[in-house]
Amino acid sequence: MGEAYKAWLRYAPLHPDQAKEYAPWCGMIVAEASGQSPLFAAACEELVNGIGSMLGRRPEAGASTDREHYLMVGTGEHSEFRGVMETAELEAAGDEGYVLKTVEEPGRRFIAIGGKTDRSALYGVFHFLRLMQTGQRIHELHAVEKPAAKLRMINHWDNMDGSIERGYAGGSIFFREGKFIADRKRIRDYARLMAAVGLNAVCINNVNVHEVESNLITPELLPSVAMAADSFRAYGIRLYLSVNFASPIQCGGLATADPLDPEVKRFWAERAADVYRHIPDFGGFLVKADSEFRPGPFTYGRDHADGANMLAEALQPYGGIVIWRCFVYDCLQDWRDRSTDRAKAAYDHFRPLDGKFSDNVVLQIKNGPVDFQVREPVSPLFGGMRQTNQLLELQITQEYTGQQKHLCYLVPQWKEVIDFDTYAQGEGSTVAKAASGALNGRPLGGFAAVANIGDDSSWTGHVLAQANYYGYGRLAWRPELTSEQIADEWVRLTFGNDPAVVGTISRMLLDSWSIYESYTSPLGIGWMVNPGHHYGPNVDGYEYSKWGTYHYADCHGLGVDRTVSTGTGFTGQYREIPAACYESIDSCPDELLLFFHHVPYTHVLKSGKTVIQHIYDSHFEGAERAAKLVETWRGLEGKIDGGRYASVLSRLEEQSKHAEEWRDVINTYFYRKSGLPDAHHRRIYP
Ligand code: GCU
Repeated sequence: MGEAYKAWLRYAPLHPDQAKEYAPWCGMIVAEASGQSPLFAAACEELVNGIGSMLGRRPEAGASTDREHYLMVGTGEHSEFRGVMETAELEAAGDEGYVLKTVEEPGRRFIAIGGKTDRSALYGVFHFLRLMQTGQRIHELHAVEKPAAKLRMINHWDNMDGSIERGYAGGSIFFREGKFIADRKRIRDYARLMAAVGLNAVCINNVNVHEVESNLITPELLPSVAMAADSFRAYGIRLYLSVNFASPIQCGGLATADPLDPEVKRFWAERAADVYRHIPDFGGFLVKADSEFRPGPFTYGRDHADGANMLAEALQPYGGIVIWRCFVYDCLQDWRDRSTDRAKAAYDHFRPLDGKFSDNVVLQIKNGPVDFQVREPVSPLFGGMRQTNQLLELQITQEYTGQQKHLCYLVPQWKEVIDFDTYAQGEGSTVAKAASGALNGRPLGGFAAVANIGDDSSWTGHVLAQANYYGYGRLAWRPELTSEQIADEWVRLTFGNDPAVVGTISRMLLDSWSIYESYTSPLGIGWMVNPGHHYGPNVDGYEYSKWGTYHYADCHGLGVDRTVSTGTGFTGQYREIPAACYESIDSCPDELLLFFHHVPYTHVLKSGKTVIQHIYDSHFEGAERAAKLVETWRGLEGKIDGGRYASVLSRLEEQSKHAEEWRDVINTYFYRKSGLPDAHHRRIYP
C-alpha cells in the first residue's frame, strides 16, 4: 500500500532537530493501568509504533523507577496514575476525554497521557502523536480535552453486494458479493483512522436497507456482524446497523410491520435479544422510514414517534438506541403545484412530535432542509425541537460537491452550520449546542456523517478528500476548531511540515468550496445537476421532476419564493431573528438569495452586481480559479511523493476541464433565458 493508504497516521520520520527535542522523552513508556484491556493495549501499541516510526527507535516498556525521563500512559483506575493527575482534571475530562501533562518532579520528568478510562488513554495517545507529527512543543504540556458530544458517528451507505450508494472511492471495505469480506485487516486499519480523530460510532450498512441487508439482524448473519464489531471495538468504536422497518414482514414471516401490533413488538424484542447475545455493546438501529419509498409507520396510520419508540423499547433493556432520520418528504411531487415545498417537510413532520420520543431515541437531521447541496440554509428543526435528542447529519461523501473528482474541502461549510445561531433559547443557541444536547439538557446527541470511504488504496479516491473525513472527526470532537486549524493540522500529518507545502495545500483546501460553488449552481438555488448520478451540469435536470427541486427560471428571473408574506412560508419555521433575516430581501444574505426569493435578473445584490452579472462573473472566475489550482499544485512537484502528486494532479486537471463545462452550460442557459449580455463581453455561447 502506498503513502495515501496511511492517511493521517503516516508517522513519517521527523526532521533531525525535532527528533532531537522529542527523543529524551520517548525512550521509555510506563503503562499504568489495571489489567490490559484490548483498548489500552491498542493505545500502547500505537504509541510504540508511532514513536518508533517517527524517531527511528522504538521506546522500551519500563517502570517509573527505571529512568528519569519517560512517557506515562495510564487510566484513573490505577493509583500511581491517579496520583499524578488531579481529581478535578480527570472529572473535567469525563469518560472519554483525557489529560496530557508534563510533570517535573525531583529526580524525574515525564509526560502523563490518559484519563479516567481506557478510551481516554487511546485518545490521549493519538493527541500526543499528533503533536509530534505536527512539530509542536511537548515540554510544558497541560491540556484537558473532552469531546463536545457523546455520539460522533459515521454512516456508511454500503450494500452487501459491495457497492456503495453515493460512493466515489471504489467498493465497500466491509462487503463483497453478498458476503462480509473475510480479511478484516482493512477494517482494523480503518478503525485506527477513526479513533485517531475521536470517532466512536459506526453504522456499516446503507440507510436504504435492501433485501439481503434486512437479514443482518438475523442468526444467519449476526456472527459476521459480531466479527466486524470486534474489529471496531479494539479502537473504542461501537457498531450500529441500519434496519428495514418492514423486517417483521421481510424476515419475520408476519403480515404486518405495524409498530403497535404485539407480534411486531415481539419480533423486534427477539431480534434485539439476539443481536445483543452476539454483540453485547451493540450501539443500536439507524432507521430511514417513510422516506424515498422506504417502508415506515405511515402505512399503518401511525406516526414517527410510534415507530421509533417501538424500536427503542426493544433496545432499551440493553442500553441500545434508535437513530431515526428526519429526511422525510414527498418525493412524488408535481412541479405544477407551487404550494408544496420540500424544504418545509422535515419540520412539518417532526416539530409537532417534539417531546413524544423516548429518551433512547435520537433524531438525525440533515444540515439543510433539502439535501446536501453546495449551499443551503440550516435546517430550522435544530431551533424547533426542545425535548428531543438530536444528531446533526453531514455528508462527507461528495454527492453534490464534485464526487471526489473535484476538490471541495467541506469543513468551512460545516462550520457555518455548526456555528449557526438558531436563537432557540436566545442569542448563542448554536446548532453545535442543539445537536450535542447541551442547549436543551438532553441525555444524548452529537454528529453523524456519511462516509467518503471505499476500498481505493487512498480510501477516498481524491487524496485531498481525506481532509474532509479528518475534519469531520475533529469537528465532532471540538466544534470550535477553525477550518484553518484543521486544514493546517491535516496537511502537516498527511504531507509533512515543509512550510511551502503546508501553506500551499492549506490555501487550496480553504479556497476550494468557494471555487466549486462559483462555477456550479448560483446563490443557494441548488440542484442543476444531472438527475440520478448528480454529477455535472444540467440546469433543468430536476425542473419538471417529482422530487420537489425547482429553480423556476423564466425570461424575467429565478429563485424560489419561500417567504411567509408571498411564498411557501418556509421562513416562518425559523425563530424570529433568523426568520426576519431571510424573509426580507434586503437582509437575506446574497449567497442564499435564490433559496428564499424569486428575483428578476436585474436585481442588485449586496455586492453591487446584478444577479445575471453575478452569474456570469462567478462562473468565469470559478473556472479560472479551478485552472489555477492545477498550476498551484504543479508548484509542489518534487516536494511530495510522486504517487500522491500524480494522482491529485490528474484529478485537478479533470476538475479544471469540467469547471469549463459547468461555466458554459450555466452561462449559456441564463443568457438564453434572460437575453441579457455580459457587461464584460466574454465568450458566452449563444
Ligand atoms: C439523497 C441521496 C440518496 C440517499 C438519500 C438519503 O437523496 O441521493 O442516495 O439515499 O439522500 O439520505 O437517504
